[in-house]
Order: sequence, then C-alpha cells, then structure tokens
Amino acid sequence: MAKKKKTKTESIPFDKYSYYKRAVQAPDTDVEFLRDTYKELRGSAPEVLREDFCGTFSICCEWVKLGPKYRAHGIDLDYEPIQYGLTHYAPQLSKSQRERLTIHQENVLNPGLPKADVIAAMNFSHYIFKERSMMKSYFHNCLQTLNDGGILVADSFGGSQCGEANEETTKHKGFTYYWDQENFDPVTNFAQFHIHFKVDGQKKMERVFSYDWRMWSLPELREMMLEVGFKKTHVYWEGTTRSGEGNGIFRPVEKGEECQAWIAYVIGEK
Ligand SMILES: C[S@@+](CC[C@H](N)C(=O)[O-])C[C@H]1O[C@@H](n2cnc3c(N)ncnc32)[C@H](O)[C@@H]1O
Repeated sequence: MAKKKKTKTESIPFDKYSYYKRAVQAPDTDVEFLRDTYKELRGSAPEVLREDFCGTFSICCEWVKLGPKYRAHGIDLDYEPIQYGLTHYAPQLSKSQRERLTIHQENVLNPGLPKADVIAAMNFSHYIFKERSMMKSYFHNCLQTLNDGGILVADSFGGSQCGEANEETTKHKGFTYYWDQENFDPVTNFAQFHIHFKVDGQKKMERVFSYDWRMWSLPELREMMLEVGFKKTHVYWEGTTRSGEGNGIFRPVEKGEECQAWIAYVIGEK
C-alpha cells in the first residue's frame, strides 16, 4: 500500500489588491474616457496624466499603453499600494511604457506636483476632504498644476440609498464583493464605508478596505471648482440600460435623474 504523501498546509496570504481590482476597477475603460473627454473638450489629444490618490496606479499603467506620447504620474501618500503596483503591475509594462511612468509618494495637497493635461481623482478618493477649505485647497492645487487647457476629472456617487446604512453584494467568479455603508450623518453628511470579500469556500474577510468620507453633492463640487478659478465645469452622467442599470456610458448633462444610486464625473476645465 502506498504511503500517504505528507502535505504541509500553508495558508496563502489574501491578495486584497487583486480582489479590489477585479471588483471595482476598470482602468482600461477609465483611460479611454479620460483621453476621449479631453479630446472632446479641447479638440486635441492629451499627453500627460496625473493620477491623484493613485493607490496601485492601475490607471497610470493603462495610460502609458495608449501610445508612445502618453506619460503618467501617480501620486499617493501610502507606500503599501505603491509597492504592490511596483511589484505586480509595473513589471507587466514594456521598457518604453515603464520609462513614461513615474510614481511619487506624496500628499496631493503638496505644492510642486508634476504638471499634467489631465488630473484624475478616481474611486471617490477626494471625498476624504471633509471641509470645504480642504477640498478647495485640493482643487486649487490641481488648477495650479494643470497645463493650459487641462482638465480635472473627479468621479462622484450619491443617490437616496446613500442617506442611510446599506450593503450591496455583488457575486464575481470565485468570490463575493460587499460594499457596506455603515452610517450616514445628515448633519455633517459624513459617512463610513467598508469593503468586505468572501472567497468561495472561505471565511468572509471583513473591512479589507475602509473609508471615512463626506458625501459631497454635484453642485457643491462644481461650485468649489469655479470658486478656485476653473473656467467651466461639466457633469458627465451615466446612461441606463432598458432594465434600469448603469450602462457605463457617460455623457454631459445639465439635468440628472432621481436614482437610488448613481455615479457621475465632475470635470473642471482650466
Ligand atoms: C479609495 S483609495 C483609491 C485608490 C485608487 N485611486 C483606485 O481607484 O482604486 C484612496 C487612496 O488615496 C490615498 N490618499 C488618501 N489621502 C491622500 C492624500 N492626501 N494624498 C495622496 N494620497 C492620498 C490613499 O493612500 C489610498 O491609496
């Protein structure tokens, strides 16, 4: 009788950035939107992107793939996601693509950040600024560091569902993603959110990412951009499918629709 082979049970570390990417990021379509929106507003192609709050800088990595003129700067305070991007995403780029990518461990409020044609603040990261004065300092810093004719693109979310605690569950291949709004304070508009994951057949991993934000409205964001000196602002609103779901196509609007949950881009033109 053959002896049973001894196997060492090693626990594989949970790769939170990989699940995050699969659940919430779509950097390839993001860069197309950023490039095409700049072209639509300015009539020419952009070259330099600055991805503020870049985390693992997946948008920068897609930007430099758009062509040999496309250069990208990523800015984040935290070395942990930067390190992940450097070891997991940057090595997948060609030599030329890597040479057009620079990552800076910096605060987005710091003076002297790299100049850009497009600054992107994605996944609602700017909601971390809870006071008007802080959000305006951020927008002012963006204006100072945009090239002439440059645009700031900041995504936003809201809807009646965000006015109370709620949890959305999305099943992906091999795992489940949870977007958990823990609370909402109508006096301050502050709200806390968590991302949980459950890999099929494993224990749920709670609070893998957490956010402490202020829910800003679209008119507030537009007003602050104009107050710091942006020439014009736009709201790009997502279209809907026949079944009422978001269709991933964002067009400029002057009027939105009542929704339980919406995503939109606020864009400031220098
Ligand atoms: C919600 S995550 C978004 C990451 C990435 N942009 C994405 O789309 O997945 C927010 C990121 O902003 C960074 N961050 C927060 N405050 C910052 C600041 N003042 N300056 C630079 N980065 C900041 C955090 O370290 C974190 O990586």
